[in-house]
Amino acid sequence: MAIPYSVKMSFQDFWRGIFTGRALIQRRLKRHLNEQRKSWPKGKQYTQGYYYQGLEELGITGAKPTGFRFRQYDVDPLLINAEILDIGSNCGFVAAYCAKRAKSVMAVELNPYLNRIAIDTAKYLKLGNITVVEDDFTRFSTDKKFDVVLSFSNHHTIDGNLNMGFENYIKKIVAHLKPGGYLLFESHNVYGPGTGAEGDDGDMEEKMRIMNTWFTIERYRMVNCFLEHMVHDVNKLFIVARLADQPEPVSFSLPEAITRFHY
Ligand SMILES: C[S@@+](CC[C@H](N)C(=O)[O-])C[C@H]1O[C@@H](n2cnc3c(N)ncnc32)[C@H](O)[C@@H]1O
Repeated sequence: MAIPYSVKMSFQDFWRGIFTGRALIQRRLKRHLNEQRKSWPKGKQYTQGYYYQGLEELGITGAKPTGFRFRQYDVDPLLINAEILDIGSNCGFVAAYCAKRAKSVMAVELNPYLNRIAIDTAKYLKLGNITVVEDDFTRFSTDKKFDVVLSFSNHHTIDGNLNMGFENYIKKIVAHLKPGGYLLFESHNVYGPGTGAEGDDGDMEEKMRIMNTWFTIERYRMVNCFLEHMVHDVNKLFIVARLADQPEPVSFSLPEAITRFHY
């Protein structure tokens, strides 16, 4: 799927805000971003103070426009009436997209500035079914079980704030899923050397083997990288995995997978 021209024109956010009557909400959200720029450690901010996620209905393009992302993922039917956990929910724009379709979304994010964006967005869009939890996912716990867990570029983050080992990470997700629940997983960099550094998924075959211990891998495909907003981004592997008592063994080759841009 080609990246739409509008996605490449993030400078138009401002004008889009003016012409579509969203200038005030854009200004409110921008204030949180500016506070983040001043007060959150530089090395832990994504996309140099611009929005990492975008949300088309706010006129905010973001480095990863949510609608464009989900058109590639093609998983909307799994979101309908689901109880969803979003790990590392960032600005809460993915959570907002899901909340429009789901029963509820719990969004876990440790960055308070991004959480303020998420909360103001949910209020603006009148989405009462989003709970923003300000927490470190490695410490996060709830008795609630979910139908769907979103792990989008979050299992070993380049800000160094999430690094619990892939197997522990997957076990933690398993503990929060209902039987037959779905893990929707977006990789980090599958072109990396696979040495275990943050953001390096060159060892995706091993990670897939670990995932397959608990999950049947229903489908996977590469998704096009998003807007290159002053940072280099790469295409990502997207996986739809379903919790199973006896997962079907998957045969997975990374060199083959990175050529596949459809299910
Ligand atoms: C690469 S971004 C991905 C954001 C989002 N999942 C997406 O794909 O749009 C990683 C996000 O995880 C958050 N994060 C990093 N470590 C975390 C942790 N230990 N617990 C919760 N959130 C964390 C960061 O603040 C950031 O918003």
